Amino acid sequence: MKLIKGIIINPFEDFSVKLWQSGALAIEKGKIAECGNFKDLSNKFPNAEILDFQNSVIIPGLIDMHTHLPQFTAMGLGNGELISWLESYIFPLESKFTDEKFAREQSEIFFDRLLRRGTTSAVIYSAPHKLACDIAFEVAKEKKIRAFIGKTMMDKNSPKGLIATAEQNIADSIELAKKWHNDGKMQYVLTPRFAIACSAELMKMTAEVAALDGLFVQTHLSENLNEIAQVKKLFPDFSSYTEVYDKLGILTERTLLAHCVHLSDNEIEIIKRRDSIAVHCPASNKFLSSGIMPAKKYLKENVNLAIGSDVAGGYSQSLLNEAMEAVECSKLYSVLIEKQPILSPRESLCLATIKAAEHLKISDTVGNFASGKSADIAVFDLPDYLQADLLSEDEIISSIIYNIDNRIAKAVFIDGELYKSNNTRGYDEKL
Ligand code: GUN
Ligand code: ZN
Repeated sequence: MKLIKGIIINPFEDFSVKLWQSGALAIEKGKIAECGNFKDLSNKFPNAEILDFQNSVIIPGLIDMHTHLPQFTAMGLGNGELISWLESYIFPLESKFTDEKFAREQSEIFFDRLLRRGTTSAVIYSAPHKLACDIAFEVAKEKKIRAFIGKTMMDKNSPKGLIATAEQNIADSIELAKKWHNDGKMQYVLTPRFAIACSAELMKMTAEVAALDGLFVQTHLSENLNEIAQVKKLFPDFSSYTEVYDKLGILTERTLLAHCVHLSDNEIEIIKRRDSIAVHCPASNKFLSSGIMPAKKYLKENVNLAIGSDVAGGYSQSLLNEAMEAVECSKLYSVLIEKQPILSPRESLCLATIKAAEHLKISDTVGNFASGKSADIAVFDLPDYLQADLLSEDEIISSIIYNIDNRIAKAVFIDGELYKSNNTRGYDEKL
């Protein structure tokens, strides 16, 4: 038994949190045994080893619901919008993942960077090559991160080295799913990139495989106005971008839709009817001048909502950063587009933890500190000029989310074990 001591924040599905200023997590065999007041738990477990993080804040491991492994070296590069940025920066980068050594090195750095920022679960696009996806799974497993990964599928309108036929894309995906789906903490996610790069045939086949094997599907939806115009041209018989996905069968309660920036009311209704999940990627939406998602409106209207870093459209692998961006973008939406209540830091933290777990249907295992869940834990220092005992619960949450001077976790535990970065420079180095 060990007790991890510090300021504990436990988020819940209803967007409430419970906070203990002098709290502790009792950990046994990789699981949360109990979460509560340090004094109570140390009396109850007098022989427990104590790891004292003093005034650091302890939260559940963060869950990134949308990111691209091959892209992280392009963070912050370029100034164009989606399509030209994909062509100039992203497709050339993804083409390099045919090189096995490069794919492994990049995967190792990618997962190390995620873990050091407190992300212990992530939903990921690998490069479009089967081997690169296989390597991504291997490295994720070695690192013990909980990973939902898919080989990016494209069969048209993209460079030759990145596309394959619909049949080949599906055959490769099935093979990868057979090897990796439900291998420990791994899940396979069918990954048609977006409607511009995928034929109707590929999307229909995706829907069939997803239904057969109960797999998640991830794609991009309604990110950029030029993208939407192109989809209209490519699929003239459909009344909207969302209807393309819906009529081809890929919208279910296991479908993650990144961006959802420019949806009509009718499209929002379709997503609600299908119980699919809209993934908010606020930093990326700013970086690529895509727009601002009406996140708070979606929440009010009971659209399933999550948060993703969308690296390298997003310029940080820190999900705390993304949670902050979500709050800031909700202010801009309210001021510039339509008056709305503001998304709170507390709501944003819940989206980045327990709500994501709920949408991935793994909330019996991760997402908060309920007894019996995996001890996936991230410890963050507050800025040293703050005195936590003078702050309210919401102020502590806000301080952690806005602590942009330090996005590296002080410590990260996966299944109760301290994550040791193989970056020999250690935790303090801002890799
Ligand atoms: N739409 C299709 N592919 C991508 C991608 O790689 N990044 C982003 N942000 N949007 C996309
Ligand atoms: Zn993306």
